[in-house]
Amino acid sequence: MPDVPLRDWAPDSWRTRPIRQAPVYPDAERLAAFEARLRRFPPLVFAGEARRLKAGLALASEGRAFVLQGGDCAESFADFTANIIRDTFRVLLQMAVVLTFGASLPVVKIGRMAGQFAKPRSSDNETVGEETLPSYRGDIINGPEFSAAARLPDPARMEFGYFQSASTLNLLRAFASGGYADLHGVHRWNLDFVARSPLAERYQDLCQRIDETLSFMAACGLDSQSTPQIHETEFYTSHEALLLPYEEALTRVDSTSGDWYGCSAHFLWIGDRTRQPDGAHVEFLRGVKNPIGIKVGPTTPEEDLLRMLAALNPANEPGRITLISRMGADKVLAKLPPLLRAVKREGAAVVWLCDSMHGNTVTTASKVKTRSFDAILTEVQRFFDAHAAEGTVAGGVHVEMTGQNVTECTGGAHRLTEADLGTRYETFCDPRLNAEQALELAFLVAQELKARRAGEAALPAAAAE
Ligand code: PEP
Ligand code: CO
Repeated sequence: MPDVPLRDWAPDSWRTRPIRQAPVYPDAERLAAFEARLRRFPPLVFAGEARRLKAGLALASEGRAFVLQGGDCAESFADFTANIIRDTFRVLLQMAVVLTFGASLPVVKIGRMAGQFAKPRSSDNETVGEETLPSYRGDIINGPEFSAAARLPDPARMEFGYFQSASTLNLLRAFASGGYADLHGVHRWNLDFVARSPLAERYQDLCQRIDETLSFMAACGLDSQSTPQIHETEFYTSHEALLLPYEEALTRVDSTSGDWYGCSAHFLWIGDRTRQPDGAHVEFLRGVKNPIGIKVGPTTPEEDLLRMLAALNPANEPGRITLISRMGADKVLAKLPPLLRAVKREGAAVVWLCDSMHGNTVTTASKVKTRSFDAILTEVQRFFDAHAAEGTVAGGVHVEMTGQNVTECTGGAHRLTEADLGTRYETFCDPRLNAEQALELAFLVAQELKARRAGEAALPAAAAE
């Protein structure tokens, strides 16, 4: 891979570019003091891990792996408990096992976890009654309570965000390699309320088949001892690289390669509201070697997308860029194919993920943000259809979900209605799939992958006739 030298880039070169969605801190000196502290803290991830993830994503770009990226819309300082982390992790493990088994493909697992705090907002202000205050921008910036004090951006929150991320990552690493993720424990990953759901039987049936496979493998001499992949799993972290003072302060030079890495997470993405090719966020991510994502929405101009690909991946390194399509079920068939064709025409190596959440958000008559499970599934199916028609690879899915039994999205096996939304509506930002809906989505995606693979396998034979 020819290495293209980075021209005029430094961890702070984004500061000379136009920026959107940036909080205005009232005290510049206090901000600088917290940035200086963060610069001295240890990195949260190692460059070698980010490179490993990039290699996994390179496989996904060729259809030799499938990506599962999921977690909260916004992590919260208040909801910071071991159980919440564990439950999200176990649902992601369940989804991954369903996908691996169904599609016979390795699954690259990436959590929207351990740092997913900063949120872009459609409006700078929020008005309640007579009072207008700055919008809530995520716990790493300000507080969700509707008071002037809470809504003032406070740089001390970056430090708390760093420590919460470190602690979350510590637990995730322990779960991933300490035995919790051992495939012999697939039964235990099931949450109580999922065990009582219509999906329970399907999941138990899958567990049974995995048990049989493991027994067969053990008889052949492949067990947890000889084959570490059975006992542990690889799990990566990601978030939107929105709050650039924080990201800059956690940028480090990797001593083995001499390259810069964003060390707040393995994978960083650019949101749909901050993807201006000449903007600050693209400039920052241009210089770090992590695998990076770009949200691609219905208003993304083809020209901007191609300019971003050229700026962010000049050497066309596979695994470097993941394009996260978030069009909405009603727009995806019109908006996605021209972009698939443009990227293909350029010969750009990318992974295409389907975020079927952000284009399907609706507000109910009683002003509750929700998403319909049907729309979410429809967008995924159409995403697969679009790729099949263009001969490109559908590389994975990106979901907002939680391991909690919340009622934030309508539909799913329990047919949640708008009237049910009040029962457990706990998100600090966008509505998430609950554990049961997330698992149901995984079963449907697995089925889709299996059917398409079977179709592909059938093609050459049919053509030979
Ligand atoms: C998100 O992923 O939470 C988000 C804000 O997405 P988008 O940038 O695609 O709107
Ligand atoms: Co969101």
